[in-house]
Amino acid sequence: MAGRTPIPVLAVLVVLGALPWIIAAAPANPDDAAAMQSIANTTGAARSLGWGVKSADPCDGAWAGVSCDSAGRVTSIRAASRSGLVGWLHAPDLSKLTFLVELDLGFNSLTGQTGGDLPLLPAPLQHLRALDLRSNRFLDVPDGFFAAFPALETINLDDNPMVGPKLRQDLLTCSRLRSFSANNISLSPFPDYLGSTAAFPALESLSLARNALHGAIPAGFGSNSNIKFLDVGGQSSILTGRIDHSSPA
Ligand SMILES: *[C@@H]1O[C@H](CO)[C@@H](O)[C@H](O)[C@H]1NC(C)=O
Ligand SMILES: *[C@@H]1O[C@H](CO)[C@@H](O)[C@H](O)[C@H]1NC(C)=O
Repeated sequence: MAGRTPIPVLAVLVVLGALPWIIAAAPANPDDAAAMQSIANTTGAARSLGWGVKSADPCDGAWAGVSCDSAGRVTSIRAASRSGLVGWLHAPDLSKLTFLVELDLGFNSLTGQTGGDLPLLPAPLQHLRALDLRSNRFLDVPDGFFAAFPALETINLDDNPMVGPKLRQDLLTCSRLRSFSANNISLSPFPDYLGSTAAFPALESLSLARNALHGAIPAGFGSNSNIKFLDVGGQSSILTGRIDHSSPA
C-alpha cells in the first residue's frame, strides 16, 4: 500500500490553527470599545448591566445585549425593557459606532444631554436600520435628528414626555422607512408628508395615536401608498379629514 499523503495532517493543522478564531470573536475595534465604555458610563449600563466591569471589550460576550460582527465592530445594542438605564445618550459616542445596525433602548429612563433632546449626531450612522427609544425621558426632537439615519427602516419614539415636538423635513432623509411610531409624544402639527409615496415608498405602518394632532388631514393623504396600518386615534384635540387609501395591490 502506498504511503499516506501528508495532506490530511496539514489539513488538521490548518483546522486547529483556525480554532481560536472560531471560538473567540475578534476583539472590539478600539474606537467602538472607547465609545461603548463611555455609553456604559453615561447611561448607567455599567452599573445596571455590568458593561465594562468584567471586561473592557464589548465584543467578548460579557456585555449583555451587545453584538459585534467578525471584525469587532458593534452592530447591535439591545438593552430595552427595564434594563434600569438612567442617564443620557451622548451623541458623539453614538456617532462613533459606525457599523451599528440596531439600537434598542426602550423602556428605560434615558434623556438627552442637551436640554433632554434626542441625540443630534455629529456624523450619520449609515447602517442603522432599527431605532427604538420608546418609554424614556426624551423631551424634544432636535432639528436634524433624522438626518443621522439614512438607512432607517423602523423607529419607535412612543411615550416620551415631549411637549409639542416637531417632525421636520430632515425626516425625508429616512426614505427607506417601513414603520414609524410616535404615539403619545404631544405631537401637534400633522406630519402630512408621511403620506407621500414618493418620499416614503416602503412605509407600511404609521402610528401617531394619543397625540395632539389637530386640524384636517390633507386631502389625498396616503393615496397610492403602501400603508397597511395607520393609527391616528385618541387625539387630545380634533383631527378631521379623510384618508384616501388605495393600495396599488
Ligand atoms: C467610565 O467610568 C469609569 C469609572 O468611573 C472611569 O474609570 C472611566 O474612565 C470612564 N470611562 C469613560 C470612557 O468615560
Ligand atoms: C404617555 O407618555 C407618558 C410620558 O410622557 C407616560 O407617563 C404615560 O404613561 C404614557 N401614556 C400611555 C397611555 O402609555
